Amino acid sequence: MKHLKSTLLLLAAVVVSVSLGAKPRVRIIATGGTIAGVSATSASSAYTAGQVGIQTLIDAVPQMLYLADVSGEQLVNIGSQDMNDEVWLKLAKRVNEILNVEGYDAVVITHGTDTMEETAYFLNLTVKSDKPVILAGSMRPSTAISADGPANLYNAVAAAVSPASKGMGVLCCMNNQLLDAKTVIKTHTIDCDTFEGGPSGIIGYVYNGEAHYLQTPNNRHTVNSVFDVSKLDRLPKVGIVYGYANASPLPMQAFVDAKFEGIVLAGVGDGNFYKDVFDVAVKAQDQGIQIVRSSRCPTGPICLNSEVDDAKYHFVAALDLNPQKARVLLMLALTRTHDWQEIQQYYKEY
Ligand code: DGL
Repeated sequence: MKHLKSTLLLLAAVVVSVSLGAKPRVRIIATGGTIAGVSATSASSAYTAGQVGIQTLIDAVPQMLYLADVSGEQLVNIGSQDMNDEVWLKLAKRVNEILNVEGYDAVVITHGTDTMEETAYFLNLTVKSDKPVILAGSMRPSTAISADGPANLYNAVAAAVSPASKGMGVLCCMNNQLLDAKTVIKTHTIDCDTFEGGPSGIIGYVYNGEAHYLQTPNNRHTVNSVFDVSKLDRLPKVGIVYGYANASPLPMQAFVDAKFEGIVLAGVGDGNFYKDVFDVAVKAQDQGIQIVRSSRCPTGPICLNSEVDDAKYHFVAALDLNPQKARVLLMLALTRTHDWQEIQQYYKEY
């Protein structure tokens, strides 16, 4: 009876706050990137990422205050080429604290675009909330003519307060588009329209200050993810080896010698590797280093037991994950198991 009473009181408080027009509370976590970049002149393409603080970014977009009660904090201020395990763990723990302890309605993360897809996927597997978590960046620095950051930040907040965004998993918001964490990929080095959603395409759009969805993710994420980093202070070391004609086995051997726990191959075609590299991979797997076959091809699945007999060598096929995301999943998988068949199941589900 007591529980029912407290639930009814909470419900009443929500109804009152909504009826009084209280805006959703959105917390913006800044990590740096070009959105916080500064160029020599507004016309210059020479710039340095991670220079401008979160309050400056918020002050540049006063329109979003009509959408939400916005506040910000600076986690780091780096180019995302310098994103690392330590920041990822801090970020995931902070997002969960903001949403599940401090009661915010959504989180927006400003981030460089170079590794945004990796951070988004890592958070997709480690955030324990169905509230919106949306990453925004830019391809032009904050000081550039027609800087794209302010509009991307406004649209990310608009998506964050859109009821339809609940339960969509972690998203990226760029160029009026919404992209889900599993399929988002940066495809162009300088174009504002650089992000694409792979074969399944974008998940939605933001316009007129709200999110409009075309589809929903069909993989496990956030509250349906088994991965929990709350008690971790490090992540397993996993490297990526690039495949090509007549490839040297030295990079893979170097990961073996450095006692990495996993190695992802950005293989040629359907996740194939040059014979000298293959020989090192077989030895690595026999030593307990998990090998995951992905591909340098931008699209298409890496098929299990196709040209490579994965069952024979206990390799894992990355299925729909490109090398950089296959690495993220392998890092988290290795926090739970070293069994190749259990790991393969994670690639089927996440
Ligand atoms: N240094 C790159 C980064 O922080 C700039 C690219 C960008 O943010 O658009 O990812």
